[in-house]
Amino acid sequence: MKIVTIKNPGGFENVILSEIDNVVNPKPKEVLVRWHATSLNFHDYLVANGSIPVADGRIPMSDGAGEVITVGSDVTQWKTGDKVMSLFFPNWLEGKVSMAKTRVISGESFQGYAVEQSLIDENSITTIPEGFTFAEAATLPCAALTAWRGLFVEGNLQPGESVLIEGTGGMSIFALQLAKAAGAKVYATTSSQEKAERLKSMGTEAVVNYKEDPKWGKTLFKMTGGIDHVLDVGGGATMQQSIEAVAIGGHITSIGILGGRKGEITFPKLFFKHIRLTGIAVGSKAMQNDMIKAINQSDWRPIIDKSFGLSELAHAFSYQETGKHFGKIVVEY
Ligand SMILES: NC(=O)c1ccc[n+]([C@@H]2O[C@H](COP(=O)([O-])OP(=O)(O)OC[C@H]3O[C@@H](n4cnc5c(N)ncnc54)[C@H](OP(=O)(O)O)[C@@H]3O)[C@@H](O)[C@H]2O)c1
Repeated sequence: MKIVTIKNPGGFENVILSEIDNVVNPKPKEVLVRWHATSLNFHDYLVANGSIPVADGRIPMSDGAGEVITVGSDVTQWKTGDKVMSLFFPNWLEGKVSMAKTRVISGESFQGYAVEQSLIDENSITTIPEGFTFAEAATLPCAALTAWRGLFVEGNLQPGESVLIEGTGGMSIFALQLAKAAGAKVYATTSSQEKAERLKSMGTEAVVNYKEDPKWGKTLFKMTGGIDHVLDVGGGATMQQSIEAVAIGGHITSIGILGGRKGEITFPKLFFKHIRLTGIAVGSKAMQNDMIKAINQSDWRPIIDKSFGLSELAHAFSYQETGKHFGKIVVEY
C-alpha cells in the first residue's frame, strides 16, 4: 500500500511517498480503515514545511475519510463497510478540554492519514455525513469543526446575528456555509476581487478587501454597527481590526496566525466594548458528532477547490502556499 511520511527536517522535498506491506490483524479494540481522502489545513502545511517539528517518518495529515475493512474482536461501534472520518484530537472524546485530551494530534504527535490503510482505536473515528463523498468528508474534521465550535459551541450563534469571516481559506468558507445555514448574516474580507465576487454569490452581505483597506475592521463597524461574531484567522495581522469590527458585547474567536504570531492590540477596546475573546483549537469528538447531525439537516456541501493524488501531496502543499484556493484542497487515493 502507499504511504506518505515526513523525513526530518521537513520541507516539501522531504514529503516522501513509498510502498509498504498492507496492515493486518487489528487488536481487539482497533479498526482497520482503508483511507480514501484527506484535506489540507494550514496546520498540515506547517508540519510538511518543517515549521512544526515531528518525529522522523511521521505520516502527515490530520484529516482522513475512508471505509472500515475489518474490526477487532471487541469492537462494538463499527462493522466492515462503515464510512468513517478521523478526529484532530484522537483522545478528546467529550467534556471539558484538558492537556491530556489534546496532547495527541493527528498528523503531528500521532500518525496521520496520508496512507492507504491504518489501524485506529474504535473511539477515535466518527461516521461521515449522509451522502458525503470521502473527499467531502475529509474536509471536515479540522476546518469545519473549528468553524462549528467557534460559531455555535463558544459563540451560541442565533438566527439574524452577524458573522465576519476573514479570507477564503477552508475554515472561513465553512464558517460562511454553517452561519448561512443557521440564518446568520455573513460579512467577509478577502485580498482578491475575484474571490469577493464568489463570496457575494454565496450570500455574503458585504466584502471588504483587507489589502486595499488596512482599516477594514473600522470600515465594517461603520457599515454594520458592529459584528456579533468574528472568526479571527490572521492573528498578529488581524486581531486589532477584528476588535474594531466586533459589536459592543460581541464575540471574537481567535483561530489562526496567518498574518503572524504576535501583534499589538488596544486593550481598552477589549473591555469598553465588553468583548468576549475565546481561543480555540478544533474540538472534541462529541462536537464533531453534533456538527455531523447539523450537516445532515442542511443541504450545503463543502467547497472543494482542487483535488490531487497521494503522490502529488507536495504539489498540493505548493498550491496551498500560493493562497489561490477558495475553500478546501483535497487529496484522494
Ligand atoms: N485554532 C484552530 O483550531 C484552527 C483550525 C483550523 C485552522 N486554523 C487556523 O486558521 C487559519 C486558516 O486556516 P485554513 O486551513 O483555513 O487556511 P487556508 O485554507 O490555507 O487559508 C488561506 C487563506 O487565508 C486568507 N488569508 C491569508 N492571510 C490573511 C490575512 N492576513 N488576513 C485575512 N485572511 C488571510 C487568504 O484568503 P484570501 O485569498 O481570500 O485573501 C488565504 O487564501 C490558519 O492560521 C490555521 O492555522 C486554526
